[in-house]
Amino acid sequence: MALRKTIVAPSLLACDFSRLGAEVERVTQAGADWIHCDVMDGHFVDNISFGPAFVEAASRHTRLPLDVHLMIEHPYHYLPRFLPLASSITSHVEADHDVSKTLAAVRDAGLLAGLAVSPPTPVELVKPFLGQFDILLIMTVNPGFGGQPFLTSMLDKVAEAAAWRETGAFDFHIEVDGGINVKTATEAVRSGANLLVAGTSVFRAQDAAEEIRMLKNV
Ligand code: DX5
Ligand code: ZN
Repeated sequence: MALRKTIVAPSLLACDFSRLGAEVERVTQAGADWIHCDVMDGHFVDNISFGPAFVEAASRHTRLPLDVHLMIEHPYHYLPRFLPLASSITSHVEADHDVSKTLAAVRDAGLLAGLAVSPPTPVELVKPFLGQFDILLIMTVNPGFGGQPFLTSMLDKVAEAAAWRETGAFDFHIEVDGGINVKTATEAVRSGANLLVAGTSVFRAQDAAEEIRMLKNV
């Protein structure tokens, strides 16, 4: 497997919303690589988090790439609101959209296009889209809430995606999201993940810089 530098993306879902700017600055200074923004619409998942105005507010406190994860039913419709703010936009294969069209629109705007799979979805479902995405996000909890335990059985999907990548025909980041801490990140990276989303473990750490450093070095 090609050696890839591990990217750590703290998830704002776990930050103190009342101090958004300070929280974004805190993880930026603590060494985060990207900032992960979980957008939820109350339809695709049973939670409502935040929308483009919040992402825009966050963007004013960092120069780091914003990695927008759309857990929404109609990702294509809302793309124009996020394209000017993000450096990557990931939508779900299970959502209600023409997946190829959404991925192409993200790439055409000069961003990295991501495709996500929820735990019950077989990873084979994204195979027809290989070559059309830059990030494959494998959910390691059921999407909707932070602070859930890591689903170890999702590592098989990570390994399978890593095998596709190893053929050399396609290059993409393998992102894991949910229940990531130093222990579970070690397993995920060993299976082939190179992009780690971490909400609770970074924002609730006593020392966020040390946590991020450890995650980068698993
Ligand atoms: C879950 C979100 C995750 C979440 C991860 O639906 O996609 O990004 O914030 O939170 P932790 O790291 O606390 O599991
Ligand atoms: Zn996420």
